[in-house]
Amino acid sequence: MREYSLCMIVIAAFIASQLDSTSALQCYSCTSTTNDTGNCLTSPSTQNTRSCETECYTQITARNLTRGCLTTGTACTLPSCSTCNTDNCNVNLVCQECLGEENCATTNVTLTQYNAVCPKIGQVCVNQLNGNQTVTRQCGDPCAAGTESTCSSCSASLCNVGLFPANRRQCYNCTGENCNAVSNTLVAGCSQIDAGCFTTGTSASNMTRGCTSTTTEIKCASDSTDPSCLVCNSDFCNSPTYERVAGSCIICENCAAQQVATDAKSCGQAKYNQEVGCYTITSGTNVNRGCLNTLESGCSTTNACTSCSENGCNVAAVEFKCIKCISNEVTGCWSASNPDTLPVVDCPNGTCYSGVWNELGVRGCFTAASLQMQYQCNAKVEVYQCDTCTESMCNKLPFNGAGALRHVGVVGLLMGVVIALRGAL
Ligand SMILES: *[C@@H]1O[C@H](CO)[C@@H](O)[C@H](O)[C@H]1NC(C)=O
Ligand SMILES: *[C@@H]1O[C@H](CO)[C@@H](O)[C@H](O)[C@H]1NC(C)=O
Ligand SMILES: *[C@@H]1O[C@H](CO)[C@@H](O)[C@H](O)[C@H]1NC(C)=O
Ligand SMILES: *[C@@H]1O[C@H](CO)[C@@H](O)[C@H](O)[C@H]1NC(C)=O
Ligand SMILES: *[C@@H]1O[C@H](CO)[C@@H](O)[C@H](O)[C@H]1NC(C)=O
Ligand SMILES: *[C@@H]1O[C@H](CO)[C@@H](O)[C@H](O)[C@H]1NC(C)=O
Ligand SMILES: *[C@@H]1O[C@H](CO)[C@@H](O)[C@H](O)[C@H]1NC(C)=O
Repeated sequence: MREYSLCMIVIAAFIASQLDSTSALQCYSCTSTTNDTGNCLTSPSTQNTRSCETECYTQITARNLTRGCLTTGTACTLPSCSTCNTDNCNVNLVCQECLGEENCATTNVTLTQYNAVCPKIGQVCVNQLNGNQTVTRQCGDPCAAGTESTCSSCSASLCNVGLFPANRRQCYNCTGENCNAVSNTLVAGCSQIDAGCFTTGTSASNMTRGCTSTTTEIKCASDSTDPSCLVCNSDFCNSPTYERVAGSCIICENCAAQQVATDAKSCGQAKYNQEVGCYTITSGTNVNRGCLNTLESGCSTTNACTSCSENGCNVAAVEFKCIKCISNEVTGCWSASNPDTLPVVDCPNGTCYSGVWNELGVRGCFTAASLQMQYQCNAKVEVYQCDTCTESMCNKLPFNGAGALRHVGVVGLLMGVVIALRGAL
């Protein structure tokens, strides 16, 4: 009998506790769409509470975030749903969860498919850069101090969105019909942080753009030598249309003298993989000018080419010049390893020379050399190491041998010879 009455007391106490609502489990109860702010998603502790019989829950779907009392028998599993059973415990954060897939790094992740309810109170949203340059986004502990370049964490729901790291390379990514004139919606982050952007294609309706790190069928590698591949190395740089207006330039042959900008002629259309701008090429005393998009060899110091980008900009007069120095007077004259730092002289005839006389290195305009030196040079008398050349500023061959001692600082001994040479130059 005693056991029976004790049992009744326990049951009665249990029933009483269930009737007393003040001792029931309290849970936050609210709903918001996942794109709202300042509400059930972001500040649950400002929301109303309810008395619940079983457990509190937080659930996220594609459209809604809901907090409330879990109905007995309802499924609630991570990552979309989490339960807890202490008063007002369902304040769970929602974070982007994307575990090292290429997408996690390359999309500006905001898709609801990545939304996940954090199971533990106190967790924050984390972006972690992996060794393979992918990104893992998830609920977790705050980043350790000193890991800023590979880890970012934040404590508001859905705060770990966007490209990570923020300086990851971004390129236009598209192919086919709508890929000629690009727009913001075509931007993608690259799977490799420091990838290049490429442009390739055969017509305005058949362009392909993307990151050099992409794994899609049509691509250009960062070191591609395919002339149809245009690779560039800054965000959004792969935007040129298949063809574009190429501006206007002075187009002429054998025209070293100053030109008039109003004589510039149209350069027609340039393809995406052609440079736009004007060039000036000097070959001996001959100067040619034209449009960069018509210049197959490209424009660089190796073909004595200079370029400029404005309409009609290639007008400057080009004068033929030679380096002019004697090694005991001018530092660096012997080796000419920094030819741009050496003195220069005009040389309208278009031939420069360099040679060694009396152990002194001499450089200048050929027609200004003494007749004896010209003769010795033309005869290729070996001891003079004399060389003539017909590109502007071309007389920069280094000299060989003991004469190297006869540079600035070793003066005096041969002063008489020097004076004689200078008279001849
Ligand atoms: C949230 O998205 C719905 C449709 O998905 C849209 O109707 C609503 O305007 C959006 N609200 C905000 C605040 O962006
Ligand atoms: C989202 O919540 C609204 C009410 O706020 C509701 O009408 C709608 O059915 C919910 N949608 C889903 C998918 O749960
Ligand atoms: C990159 O590394 C992360 C973390 O080590 C891993 O989870 C992920 O599967 C890897 N992704 C690829 C594409 O190799
Ligand atoms: C990526 O998201 C951020 C933040 O929402 C936004 O400022 C940026 O413009 C987005 N970038 C692209 C390329 O959509
Ligand atoms: C670029 O577009 C292709 C094809 O639409 C797609 O397969 C690829 O994932 C995209 N790349 C990025 C980085 O978004
Ligand atoms: C489109 O361009 C690709 C190269 O980018 C080329 O392989 C393909 O043959 C082109 N298609 C057509 C129809 O020209
Ligand atoms: C070019 O050199 C020749 C002699 O070699 C000379 O007669 C002529 O005047 C020179 N021309 C110029 C423009 O200096």
